[in-house]
Amino acid sequence: MTRAPSPPASWWRTAVVYQVYIRSFADADGDGMGDVAGIGARLPYLADLGVDAIWINPWYRSPQVDAGYDVADFRDIDPLFGTLAGAEGLIRDAHLAGLRVIVDVVPNHTSSEHAWFRAALAAAPGSPERARYLFRDGRGPGGDVPPNDWRSVFGGPAWTRVPDGQWYLHLFAPEQPDLDWSNPEVREEFLSVLEFWLRRGVDGFRVDVAHGLIKAPGLPDIGYHALPLGPHDVALPWHSDDHPHWNRAELHEVFRSWRALAARYGDAMFVAEAEVGPIERYADYVRPGELHSTFNFPFLKSPWDAAALREVIDRTVRVYGAAGAPPNWVLGNHDLTRVATRFADGDPARGLRRARAAALLMLGLPGGAYVYQGDELGIEEVVHFTPGERQDPIFLRSGGAVTGRDGCRVPLPWSGDEPPFWFSPPGAAAPWLRQPASWRAVTAERQLADPGSTLSLHRTALRVRRAHDGFRGEGFAWIDAPGEVLHFARGSAAVAVNLSDRPFPLPRGARVLVASAEPAGGAVPPDAAAWYEP
Ligand code: NOJ
Repeated sequence: MTRAPSPPASWWRTAVVYQVYIRSFADADGDGMGDVAGIGARLPYLADLGVDAIWINPWYRSPQVDAGYDVADFRDIDPLFGTLAGAEGLIRDAHLAGLRVIVDVVPNHTSSEHAWFRAALAAAPGSPERARYLFRDGRGPGGDVPPNDWRSVFGGPAWTRVPDGQWYLHLFAPEQPDLDWSNPEVREEFLSVLEFWLRRGVDGFRVDVAHGLIKAPGLPDIGYHALPLGPHDVALPWHSDDHPHWNRAELHEVFRSWRALAARYGDAMFVAEAEVGPIERYADYVRPGELHSTFNFPFLKSPWDAAALREVIDRTVRVYGAAGAPPNWVLGNHDLTRVATRFADGDPARGLRRARAAALLMLGLPGGAYVYQGDELGIEEVVHFTPGERQDPIFLRSGGAVTGRDGCRVPLPWSGDEPPFWFSPPGAAAPWLRQPASWRAVTAERQLADPGSTLSLHRTALRVRRAHDGFRGEGFAWIDAPGEVLHFARGSAAVAVNLSDRPFPLPRGARVLVASAEPAGGAVPPDAAAWYEP
């Protein structure tokens, strides 16, 4: 091992980014909800963990109908989380701790409480105020049929009627009206919002629903009537080549203007949430002069299956490489079932073994990686909620038919033996989502004291990743192995991930750098992974 050189020119090409779901990270003021000061107090934890950056989910003023993705003011912090001055202080403190800061930008929609939408409701049909959103007359006699057949991702029609009879579009909740990106005023506003945060020192943006901003002229029907409707509308065809509201070619001129702006602010980066089907389509978002990165949903949604993972890794390295972008890897976020539960097949111990191996797989691959808060503790999806405790609009809008995302959003267990495990200080209100009492066994404090814990595994892996020449480069090559083993070289190091039910012997003389389970007799156990020097 050699010492790390000075920071690479483009930090985001190889960065490990930790996702701070602010509502559930750390609560300093005792209201049961995470906040800016809570993040500040835990910066040493994040720096010691060894990540390069944090991505903070929306902290802007918001009625919190969709946990902050309904933004009422993009230039202020929600009082639930703190103040603008506090956020500026956090950005400075994070930088002092050696951490970059990525914030969310939510350009597809605003909150219905945003000043623009209030003005639109107060103004007449056809007014410039309405032209920032997608207001249309309805169909049918009296205009009481929605303007087209689009469905909300959260269930039900994508249109809501206002008292004067017009309808407005919302691809998500009715409290999240879609903006009209064919309106130059909308484009200018977002350039100004980006600049507002760049001036405050942020190092990048995660772009919410990046593939949804542009709608086809005339808002044509999708033709859902021809398809069987599932209980959850997201199963509908997001991915066709000419979809009226996903993945439209005109998106890219928006992103080119964003990239040009960010280039004026040093090395600021964008990572897009753009789930657009096969990985080959992702390349369009990371072409030179466009966004820097996109979340790799095909990897995130892959089953624990060697053939499936090998294929997605191959295609990712090829596709991002051809576009000149670093590959991206991610195993969890605030919208999906926790990785330890996804890979469990009903057996929590197996889920944890696989989640640990998957972490070494992800962090062992070339390019950038995203760690969702709590995954470094190996925590599981929480399923103990009564219907009255659930808060996700997906659950509420589907009348409970769709479970929703609360189970991966539960406040973190930091220390102590009972809830709230120092998520909040003593005497605080209960956490906004109830924590399992069993989390006493997995608090950060307990895991820090245990060299075999999942937290220690992450800390060791991140240390090796930073310090070792092999992992610092972008080199990647498969090494011969049985079909159920993912085995690849990273320059002078190598990674073996064993998805088979037999031990996988490492080459004679291998020096293990980090392992998700102790290699026995020089072999990686089933459902485990190791990094080694040959
Ligand atoms: C994607 C975000 O990750 C999700 O949490 C949110 O509900 C939707 N976009 C709508 O903004």
